[in-house]
Amino acid sequence: MTPRRANGQVQKVLLVDDEVDVLRGLRRILEHAGYDVTSVTTLRHAVNTIHAERFDLVLTDLYLGDSDLGVQIADVARQQHPQPPVIVLTGRPTFDGAQEALRSHVADMVVKPVDAQHLLATCHRVIQETELARRNQELESANKVLTSVLPRTIEMKDPTTSGHAARVVGYTDVLAQRCGVGAEDRASLRLAGLLHDIGKIGIPDHILTKPGPLTADEFDVIKRHPAMGYEVLAELTEHENVRTWVYQHHERWDGKGYPNGLHGEDVALPGRILVLAEVYDALAEQRSYKPAWPLPKIVALFREQAGKQFDPDLAHLVADGLERLGYRFFSPNRDQLF
Ligand SMILES: [Fe+2]
Repeated sequence: MTPRRANGQVQKVLLVDDEVDVLRGLRRILEHAGYDVTSVTTLRHAVNTIHAERFDLVLTDLYLGDSDLGVQIADVARQQHPQPPVIVLTGRPTFDGAQEALRSHVADMVVKPVDAQHLLATCHRVIQETELARRNQELESANKVLTSVLPRTIEMKDPTTSGHAARVVGYTDVLAQRCGVGAEDRASLRLAGLLHDIGKIGIPDHILTKPGPLTADEFDVIKRHPAMGYEVLAELTEHENVRTWVYQHHERWDGKGYPNGLHGEDVALPGRILVLAEVYDALAEQRSYKPAWPLPKIVALFREQAGKQFDPDLAHLVADGLERLGYRFFSPNRDQLF
């Protein structure tokens, strides 16, 4: 089967060897396997070709003429985007050669005389590994946007909440662990903690950062942020839970929350944990309109709001924990304290 790129184009290999006979033999093997092969005999020619065209793989002899080394091609290849992997062929495997190859981040070495099957298997594996690494890198970048860029965007819009999302993630995770929430839900909850206020992007600045008290109309606008968050995260189809908990993070146990006035266990446990963790951070941190609350005052509020704003079991669990351990209750290494 012809090896192809994701876009359907045939994969291209650049072949570099100063011995014309060897070059011809290798070319035959690779073309027979379906690769689109370009072959050159000098380092200079190879470098020019790499600059001019995109290759999926470079296969080069270790020694090119008297003074040039194939691994020098790897240095040039590393500067290309996307970067083609380089396999070095050598008839004289030496320690120095291997060291040089490692230094230049060569993907693999193949010893001549070449066994066709082994060569093709190596080419196939190296191209696949490179493709996989590239995709992982793309995923990592996308993940960074989700878990770092988005929360920072909210915090830039509303600087009073600097660090809020990251702290809420820590608190929710400790609580979730304490309540026996499973690993998968805990991961979703961490994401929900990070993104819970993402809908604030849609709230006008003059309302979001208004220093004085809000009018009823302004508060109605603020109340739209959970639904807006739900909308912003619409494409997060694999994480419906995350969207749901973001949507529900201002609901209350007694049904007096928003947007839907859900009651009690209508909000699943992870969602109720998020509600509580979010409030805890708002109380424990200083805001422009209030100082940080001392712990006894927070504990008293949780007890008073057990069964009203908060799941009663959860509220008492946190109040007890805070009384017993203070701020360490929310430390991720709490278990190691004793
Ligand atoms: Fe919120």
